[in-house]
Amino acid sequence: MKTQPNILVVDDEQGPRESLKMILRNDYLIFTAKNGWEALDIIHYETIDLVTLDLKMPGMQGTELLKEIRDFNSDIEVIIITGCGTLKTATEAIRSGVSDYILKPFDVAEMRSVIKRSIEKKSLNKKQKILISELENILLEEKKNQDDILTSEKNNTVVLIDLIRETLKYSIHNKFQRDDTYYLEFIKVLANTLEGQDRYTRGHSDRVNYYSNLIAQKLLFTSHEIEELQIAAFLHDIGKLGIAKDILVKEDELTDTERHILRQHPEKGVELIGPLRVSPNIIAAVRNHHESFDGSGYPDHLKGEEIPMLARIIAVADTVDAMKSERPYRKDLSMDEIKGEFKRASGIQFDPMLIKIILQILDEEKNFIS
Ligand SMILES: [Fe+2]
Ligand SMILES: [Fe+2]
Repeated sequence: MKTQPNILVVDDEQGPRESLKMILRNDYLIFTAKNGWEALDIIHYETIDLVTLDLKMPGMQGTELLKEIRDFNSDIEVIIITGCGTLKTATEAIRSGVSDYILKPFDVAEMRSVIKRSIEKKSLNKKQKILISELENILLEEKKNQDDILTSEKNNTVVLIDLIRETLKYSIHNKFQRDDTYYLEFIKVLANTLEGQDRYTRGHSDRVNYYSNLIAQKLLFTSHEIEELQIAAFLHDIGKLGIAKDILVKEDELTDTERHILRQHPEKGVELIGPLRVSPNIIAAVRNHHESFDGSGYPDHLKGEEIPMLARIIAVADTVDAMKSERPYRKDLSMDEIKGEFKRASGIQFDPMLIKIILQILDEEKNFIS
């Protein structure tokens, strides 16, 4: 008999806690907690698949608990349920990698489908992670028997590229993976696997996707254009899978050679996704997301509107995330510093039209925060 997934409902109010239990108990095994400490206790002793989390609780706040859950086990899906939604809480939730975000009072059907989707996503992620590690073992074994001339660093890079190629080939030929939703989910797993290596970049493509989306909405993109942008945002740094890990996680300044290698990631990305049935707009966005508006970027030194629109948007969204994130060598920048940097780089690194839009978005975000 298939065991039911375990869900933990965390809410300080008895009403919502009990009603969620009622709604879900036919399909899942439900645990409940009325505060953060109770929740952490349960998470330590039971195998929890998904947590529904009330953000506003006395004592340990929801955001704090979310961080604790992430630190304990990043595979647990988390759905935020709150009565006080602002752009700030939504941004924070997305930055911490929650699966979904629902406002109280919740709709029963919506709640059921959001939870079902998250549980399916979790089991798919698990299958794909197993697949990735199996392939990694096979390829590592093969490589061991081959060229000993390669340095270990280069060996890792070769293995990774082979691994991704094989994995993607497998996913295309496997009927189960043909569905585009699964394909996008698969790409997210790859991106998360890559970013998971480094605590400073964890969730990077999720956040780039989030800011790209806000820009696209201001530009009144069609749903098809938004979908292409979404895939491109998730894939933009996928080429880093082909770059040696020590360069990616290096805390000191890179040497010229290392910088040269790192700058190959857009081309390596295209190499990885080239064989797939991905639209040329997505491929161009991956290749050109490090071009500068004045032509000083890479790899093609494109200028102004020669740079594909999706690539120009991702370049801006990428920089928002970089500036908002703490790095080993500096703290995250304040909102005024971020805006100042963007104003200075308008027309030089970035499209001035997009700078106007991102400044507007940041102003809106600031209003919610203050
Ligand atoms: Fe990049
Ligand atoms: Fe990036």
